Amino acid sequence: MNDRIDVTLPGERSYPILLGNGLLGTPDLLEAYTGNQALVVTNAAVADLYLPQVRRSLVSVDQVDVVEIGDGETFKTLDTYAAILDALIDKRHNRSTTVVALGGGVVGDVAGFAAATYQRGVGLVQIPTTLLALVDSSVGGKTAVNHSAGKNLIGAFHQPRAVIADVGVLATLPEREFRAGLAEVIKYGIIADATFFAWLESHMDDLLSRDPASLVDAIRRSCEIKAQVVADDEREQGRRVILNFGHTFGHAIEAVTAYERFLHGEAVAAGMVMAMDLSVRLGRSTDQDAERVRRLIERSGLATETLDVDVEAMLEAMGMDKKVMDGRLRLIVCDGIGAVSVASDVPEQTLRQAIALGR
Ligand code: NAD
Ligand code: GLY
Repeated sequence: MNDRIDVTLPGERSYPILLGNGLLGTPDLLEAYTGNQALVVTNAAVADLYLPQVRRSLVSVDQVDVVEIGDGETFKTLDTYAAILDALIDKRHNRSTTVVALGGGVVGDVAGFAAATYQRGVGLVQIPTTLLALVDSSVGGKTAVNHSAGKNLIGAFHQPRAVIADVGVLATLPEREFRAGLAEVIKYGIIADATFFAWLESHMDDLLSRDPASLVDAIRRSCEIKAQVVADDEREQGRRVILNFGHTFGHAIEAVTAYERFLHGEAVAAGMVMAMDLSVRLGRSTDQDAERVRRLIERSGLATETLDVDVEAMLEAMGMDKKVMDGRLRLIVCDGIGAVSVASDVPEQTLRQAIALGR
C-alpha cells in the first residue's frame, strides 16, 4: 500500500511525499506535477539503474530531456549548476517546465538550485535514491551548491511540487551509503519521538536487511517528523535548527578530515554521540539515554569510538560553523530521548570534554 505524507506550507507551496515500494515506473505517477516539458537531472550510475522507470512515469510529458552530472560531492558546484541551466536554455524549456531530480542529495541539491533560479523559479520534483535523500535532503526545500570556501554557501529555498519516495531504490544502494543514511533516521527518534527511537531499537536488524516494510515504516516516520518541523519553520528562523542535532560536531569532523575520511552520515553519527555526551555533562540527559544512542548507532554499523580527530582543530572548525550566531556557538542538546533544545552557553571546557568523549 502506498502512503502520502503532506508537507503543509503557506500559499501554493504545500506538497505531498508519495511513499511506497516499487512506485517508479507507474505511468501516471508524475502527471499531476509536470507540464509538457521536463528535464531529468541525474548521474550515470543512477541513470543506468532507474532512468528507464522514470521515463515510463513521464509518458504524458511531450518533451523529456536528460542531463547527467558527475558523481559525488565534488560535482556540487557552480559549474554543474551552469551546465543544467545551459541544458534548459539549449532545449528551450519554458517557465512551465519541471526539473526532475533523480539521485542522492548531490543531484537533489544542485538540480533544486537550478529549478529555484531558472526563469526565477520552475517546478521541481524530487526522486531521492539514497536513504539520506529519502529522509532528509529531498524534503524541506533547501537547495545549494558548494564554494571553495565552504559547503552549501550558495543556494536558495525552493520547495518541490512532490517527492517520490520509492524504497525499492534502496536495494542497489552500497552498504556504506545505506548505513550512513541510518544516522539521520536515528536522529529523528532522538530529536522528536522516543517511541520511534524504541521502534528503531527493536527493528534495526530488519532495517539492516533492507526489509521493504520496515524501510517504509522508518522512512514514513522520519518524513513525518521532518515535514512537521519544516511546516513549523520553513526558513530556519527557529525550530528547524533542531534538525541539526549532532551536525555542528559532524560538520567539524568532516572539515578537519578534509571531507575525505567520512561520509556525512558517519560524521553525524559520531557527532550525535558527542552531542549526547555534552547533554549528559549539562545535566539535560541521563547516562542511560547516551548509552542507548551509542548502542543503536553502533548496531547500525556506524563508528562511535573516538575518531582520532584533533580536539583543538574541531573546536576551531566549530567556531566557523554556520550555526554560530552573535559570536556564540548554539548547540542542539538532548533533553532526554525524544526532545531537544538549543544551548548557547556551553563552557568551552565542557565542549572539549564532549568532543574527546571523556578521554
Ligand atoms: P550522493 O548524492 O553523493 O549519493 C551517494 C552515492 O550513491 C553516489 O555515488 C550515487 O551515485 C550513489 N547512488 C545514489 N542512489 C543510488 C542507488 N539507489 N543505488 C546505487 N547507488 C546510488 O550522497 P547523499 O548522501 O545522498 O547526499 C549528500 C548530499 O546531500 C550532500 O551534498 C549534503 O550537503 C546534501 N544534503 C542536503 C540536505 C538538504 O536539506 N538539502 C540535507 C542533508 C544533506
Ligand atoms: N537538513 C537540515 C534541514 O533540512 O534543515
